[in-house]
Amino acid sequence: MASIRAKITGVGHYLPEYVLTNKELEEYVETNDEWIKSRTGISERRLLKDPDKATSFMGEKAAIEALEDAGVDASEVDAIILATVTPDYLFPATAALVQKRIGATKAFAFDLSAACSGFLYALSTGGTMIESGRAKKVLIIGADKMSSILDFTDRTTCILFGDAAGAVLLEASDEDDGIVDYVHHTEGDEACMLYQPAGGSKNPATIETVNNKEHYLRQDGKSVFKKATEGMADVSLEIMERNGLKAEDIAWLVPHQANLRIIDATARRMGLDKEKVMINISHYGNTTAATIPLCLYDWKDKLKKGDNIILSAFGGGLTWGAIYLKWAK
Ligand code: UT7
Repeated sequence: MASIRAKITGVGHYLPEYVLTNKELEEYVETNDEWIKSRTGISERRLLKDPDKATSFMGEKAAIEALEDAGVDASEVDAIILATVTPDYLFPATAALVQKRIGATKAFAFDLSAACSGFLYALSTGGTMIESGRAKKVLIIGADKMSSILDFTDRTTCILFGDAAGAVLLEASDEDDGIVDYVHHTEGDEACMLYQPAGGSKNPATIETVNNKEHYLRQDGKSVFKKATEGMADVSLEIMERNGLKAEDIAWLVPHQANLRIIDATARRMGLDKEKVMINISHYGNTTAATIPLCLYDWKDKLKKGDNIILSAFGGGLTWGAIYLKWAK
């Protein structure tokens, strides 16, 4: 057990103003409010409509709010890790753009790509940097402008996602709180079950890739659903078991918000009552790397020091994982 722990001392978020309702989606694709709500739990999602604004804009807003919440100046931050699959550019890193705009002059900054598990991978990476003693304050941001890779003529994907950002500040703790343990998994065999076919070095942009709509997200929804339902529950049970946690020891489950049925199945297998599960998918949809910090933001006034919290996610890669932390604020 590390003698230094990494604890969350500030939480921030950003949600674009524009609300895209299920009703409005009925104008673009053959779908309906009842189908979307019953199959996914989603009623509406936010879109960043301003064409001049991208993922870094949302990440910057969430980061500033997290720093304010922690009472820490940006100049004190040692590192910034930004999880995203919709970076402003393939390079430079979106984290570098945020670093400049918030004035975190001494921080080194990089992006991390692990799709819907990105925030958890970033949180454990930042936490480990603090536990090692090399960093004292690390900003973790999950931000995605999913609307930039959505095909609004494909009803199987465009109804699912939204735009948003969430951020937390991690600081060193010498108390018995903060991040206690994490488990992460990757199954590269199934990398193309959920992916963006073109735009990278394998299929650089051409007229054909654009005409074939290969710059949009593609998903084998049914297969991902099956994998996610098993994976998120399995990894949540794995982290409970290896830390000797029973359902009654857990104050909150913070699940990735991809589908209400996946969340319900995970909570059921963990033996948790619904009151202990953070769910806001109805208003924001799946915001990829932002779902978990958005939940922490929405619930932050209900969290108590010492609460045992399990964060759990599943996403493209395939990637999945869980983090056990004791709330420190
Ligand atoms: O963030 C991590 C990764 N993502 C996920 O975890 C998402 C995983 N997948 C899912 O959440 C679900 O698979 C979906 C919500 C995407 C789809 O739900 P489903 O219950 O698996 O539906 P389905 O794909 O089996 O489709 C059932 C029917 C099909 O019609 P037929 O073939 O039975 O006639 C679809 O064409 O529903 C149809 N359908 C729709 N109908 C109305 C598919 N999308 C829509 C739609 N509106 N938007």
